[in-house]
Amino acid sequence: MRPHGMQAKQFLYLAAAGLLTVSCSRRDVSPAGTFSANGIEFTAAEAAQILKLTPLPDLPHDPRNRHSSDARAVALGRQLFYDPRLSANGSISCATCHDPSRHWTDGKRVAEGLGRVARNTPTLWNVAYNRWQFWDGRRDTLWAQSVAPIENVNEMGSNRLRIYWRVAEEPGMRRAYEDLFGSLPALDSGKETRDARPVAEDPRHPMHRAWLALTDADRDRVNRCMSNLGKAVEAFERTLITPEAAARKSLGAFAALASSGICSKMVSECATVGKLIA
Ligand code: HEC
Repeated sequence: MRPHGMQAKQFLYLAAAGLLTVSCSRRDVSPAGTFSANGIEFTAAEAAQILKLTPLPDLPHDPRNRHSSDARAVALGRQLFYDPRLSANGSISCATCHDPSRHWTDGKRVAEGLGRVARNTPTLWNVAYNRWQFWDGRRDTLWAQSVAPIENVNEMGSNRLRIYWRVAEEPGMRRAYEDLFGSLPALDSGKETRDARPVAEDPRHPMHRAWLALTDADRDRVNRCMSNLGKAVEAFERTLITPEAAARKSLGAFAALASSGICSKMVSECATVGKLIA
């Protein structure tokens, strides 16, 4: 690439903003297979990479969460995300591992909650664009994902029945919940059972037994409460879109790489920068 006149960085910004498609038409391809646009020459490979840069598309619609864009759900979801009382010992929230000051990660090799987790904590930036959640893609929605860390013994170690009682008994929480999802149904079972959840890997686990001891209708009520809270968490997570500042910074880094000629070896990084430009 040989920039003349115009700064390479400026040019790349325009290219990333989609303007290259205008200035870099077919007739600009020279017989030698190079592209020239605005006085800059690119090899075909360089141009192909730059053209991969596209702005972030609109957020994908989640047809399984009718509250996904509701401002009240975002507010409740934010409150839940930062609430350590969703954990068994009252000290771990989602933000413990997905720390906003560390780009929604924890900066550790593997995550640490109540115990040590075997995996690294992924960022939550642009997480609503993921088709699948978790490193192995074992959840297909954000709301279903959010139940897993709350109940994982090495992360937050709580359970869905305990969370149900929290919503039922804490007036502020109950108001916010009922405002969105309608009245919280009472349970057939008494208040003395506080902890219950399915434990698929150990059917003799006391929490699993307590779960099976609930009526079918109660299990359904508790599941519904939990998935509704997950829908609020999802509404909040959908707001975690990389700000323009980050995009410009990455673009600067990309421009530096591109002008040093390394970019042709970094196709995936170039595509990532493309995702960052909203
Ligand atoms: C103890 C640390 C820890 C806590 C607490 C925690 N997470 Fe995570 N989170 C992780 C780790 C580790 C993974 C990856 C696990 C895996 O792939 O099996 C992950 C994965 C995710 C993902 C999937 C992202 C992707 O790109 O696939 C989302 C979304 C998420 N967490 C949201 C949450 C929410 C919401 C909460 C609170 C309800 C939460 N996390 C609590 C550590 C944590």
